[in-house]
Amino acid sequence: MPNCLLGIDIGTSGLKSLLVDEQGKILFSAYREYDLSSPHPGWYEQDPEDWWRAAVEAVQELLFRAGGGLEILAVGLSGQMHGMVGLDVNGKVVRPCMIWADLRNSAECEQVYEQVGGLEELLRLTNNRMLTGYTGGKVLWVRNHEPQVYGQMVTILNPKDYIRYRLTGVRATDVSDASGTGLFDVRKRAWSKTLLKALDLPERLFPHAFESCEVSGMISDEASRIIGLKAGIPVMGGGGDAVIQTTGTGLVKEGVFATTIGTGGIVSTALDHPYDNPEGRLQVFCNNMPDKWHSMGVTLSAGGALRWYRDAFAAQEKEIARLTGHDVYDLLMAEAAASPAGSEGLLFLPHLLGARCPEPDPNARGAYVGLTIRHDRRHLLRALVEGITFSLKDMTCLYEKMGVLPDELRTSGGGSRSPFWRQIQADVFNRTIHTMYAAAEGGAYGAALAAGVGAGVWPAMEAAAGCIPVETTEAPDPSVVPVYEKLFQLYQRLHHALQETFDGLADMD
Ligand code: XUL
Repeated sequence: MPNCLLGIDIGTSGLKSLLVDEQGKILFSAYREYDLSSPHPGWYEQDPEDWWRAAVEAVQELLFRAGGGLEILAVGLSGQMHGMVGLDVNGKVVRPCMIWADLRNSAECEQVYEQVGGLEELLRLTNNRMLTGYTGGKVLWVRNHEPQVYGQMVTILNPKDYIRYRLTGVRATDVSDASGTGLFDVRKRAWSKTLLKALDLPERLFPHAFESCEVSGMISDEASRIIGLKAGIPVMGGGGDAVIQTTGTGLVKEGVFATTIGTGGIVSTALDHPYDNPEGRLQVFCNNMPDKWHSMGVTLSAGGALRWYRDAFAAQEKEIARLTGHDVYDLLMAEAAASPAGSEGLLFLPHLLGARCPEPDPNARGAYVGLTIRHDRRHLLRALVEGITFSLKDMTCLYEKMGVLPDELRTSGGGSRSPFWRQIQADVFNRTIHTMYAAAEGGAYGAALAAGVGAGVWPAMEAAAGCIPVETTEAPDPSVVPVYEKLFQLYQRLHHALQETFDGLADMD
């Protein structure tokens, strides 16, 4: 019977499961949606029981489709990061999971800085800020606002770890997800005892953090009866989605950078050392390889800025797309491509939702700068795509401060589907850019590869990554690169130049 690996990703809108063969090829996939509830503006919760139901259904569908003809060697888990699932002594979930998007805990995050003695001290302990939404602030929120619930909790898990618990009975996490709690010393790959002590949080709440490719437990008899997987199949440590999905695009070497263009934009790379995180502007987490770290910077409006343009100005293109069956974004990209590179001296700053990186600034806004009577819609669109790409490149300058230079580039997410935008990325970064097989599969694919490493299919993640074929390649155009180099220097000064204006506008809100 051919061998295969099972990857499960507990996403925000639904759960994806994949069966992958020993060459890294996807054989079957199944997906189940679940609900997200918002009991109050800015609060977002999910019921872990819904994830479990989705896991059971999706895995049963895979097993049915495989028809008993495959031997599953191991299971890998991936999941949305930063959520908080509290278990009581009997393994019962004590309250709905506050997920990563839940922003109710900003006061508790401030409390963390106060209790440890400021940002520098926190960076010394964890190498990360305590961002609103991280698990750590949520635990403090429950202690401050729901003391009875807090009193019942004996274990705190991230979302994928709850599925591990249901599959194996083991209460555990992995080092990449643990990093996203804000309570983990990523340099030592262990919970920060000093921080837990400063926050008066008992160590016993935080379970063992396995490496991603280590065996964390086996499918239990009870889970086997419910889900249909054979008892005894090993379940590996797995990883937080933002980390393991980049590993699943083959990001295993320091200096190979990936951009992910969804609503927001992410720039990430593997690191050989847990370099000091400059002013905590990046997120520096443990990677899925035991001797590597993962780092990412996030710009808040990437694809989201293009969607804003579509909704604000492109009613006509939307209608044409509807009538002709085209994708409206393809029409917008064709329009942008009709303007020359550099948009004839027009710059766009994409901070429509404020800025997080490289300069955290909630007052920052979007701007077109350099408009003249020559410019029309084609220039506006192209400048917008160029501005988003400059914002991605701007974050790589933080890595340069660490001494990590981008030498190769990959891209994934909705924005990577456009060959035009990929070419702009190649030209702005002056690097060849690739898209990879299965990049759209998210964390489930990386989790399946990690399971394969744990099961001995590949000796290490680096070898597993070698199985991932390149799908597209764009090389920089030497005639365009200098145009973007010049414009990028001007772009980098824009935010500062407009700072007072942004602050003044924010005062008027
Ligand atoms: C990562 C992050 C998201 C969530 C949701 O820092 O906040 O990627 O993991 O998927």
